[in-house]
Amino acid sequence: MEKEADSKNKGMFSAAVAASRKISEQFYKLELVFDGSGAQQFARARAGQFAELDLANCKLPQAENIPDDLKDSANRKILLRRPFSFSGVQIKGDKTNVEILYCAVGPATLRMTTLEKGDCVSVLGPLGNGFSLPNDKSKAVLVAGGSGAGPIMHLAKQIKADSPNVEINVFVGAATREKLPFENCRFDKLTTGGVKTTVATDDGSAGDKGFVTDCVSSWLNESATADENKLDAKETIIYGCGPEAMLEVLAKIAERKGIDCEVSMERMMACGFGVCQGCAVECKIAGGNETIYKMCCKDGPVFDAREIVFKTKV
Ligand SMILES: Cc1cc2nc3c(=O)[nH]c(=O)nc-3n(C[C@H](O)[C@H](O)[C@H](O)COP(=O)(O)OP(=O)(O)OC[C@H]3O[C@@H](n4cnc5c(N)ncnc54)[C@H](O)[C@@H]3O)c2cc1C
Ligand code: FES
Repeated sequence: MEKEADSKNKGMFSAAVAASRKISEQFYKLELVFDGSGAQQFARARAGQFAELDLANCKLPQAENIPDDLKDSANRKILLRRPFSFSGVQIKGDKTNVEILYCAVGPATLRMTTLEKGDCVSVLGPLGNGFSLPNDKSKAVLVAGGSGAGPIMHLAKQIKADSPNVEINVFVGAATREKLPFENCRFDKLTTGGVKTTVATDDGSAGDKGFVTDCVSSWLNESATADENKLDAKETIIYGCGPEAMLEVLAKIAERKGIDCEVSMERMMACGFGVCQGCAVECKIAGGNETIYKMCCKDGPVFDAREIVFKTKV
């Protein structure tokens, strides 16, 4: 498994907003355009890497557009940059466009919704280590929960471009149809062609009813026994991005089946590049019972699932 992503090319860049819009009940899409050295650095950004955006000077939406559950926190001053992964990176001549799929959950992301075409945003990145490409595999199983869909979309596009012989199976889960991160629920448009997509919602309002990890589990079991398209654990890799409980279940499924698995972990982040030590992830030391703390921003956010001591205990 190739692992080459890193943040050695990171920098502080000014990006212009190329587009910003609401795409579903809960999700927004922001498209940033970089030129000069920012364009060069972000052109190399890998799926799972992220950037820290300075949203302190963005204005709040009109009071009537602030959801009731965010009214109390909306006025909180924004001191720190906020981390976001990418749902796509496109090189357009000497510019690079970076797409971010995000959910408005608090004061900074609420402000982010008011960005308009032509606005400038200070961006620190690309940061962290992204997903490795499945160059020695024939099947990739990509699993997203909620806003984890952004980096999973990016990864699907990268695998298609760089490892065209790998079969890509995407699984996306959310609590309800409204919470799916797709425009008009058009999850078939996740990426252009050739990607098998399965959707699950907890209440069954779209796709299969139940947890997305149940869909992954039954798909793996079915593929393991079907004559056609038989699953070879060594030829398969699972990638996950979403809530920690979902990642823990994925890690267990992968361990039981002997399949490699990479998960993108989330922690609150301040600096984003290993200085503040605020984003610790407990990791197992191979071959013993000891653990160490790694920094989610610098050593991750993508980790080998076997390393992680999950906090959720599902
Ligand atoms: C590496 C990384 C990549 C990310 N990529 C995306 C993305 O592509 N799209 C997206 O919508 N969001 C993403 N996030 C989460 C995003 O950074 C937060 O939603 C954002 O910082 C919230 O800021 P806020 O001021 O609006 O809300 P806050 O008031 O800061 O947070 C709102 C709520 O979300 C919780 N929260 C915030 N950040 C985190 C976190 N990192 N881990 C766990 N809980 C958190 C808080 O505890 C609080 O309950 C990513 C986070 C990380 C660490
Ligand atoms: S956010 Fe500062 S060390 Fe990770």
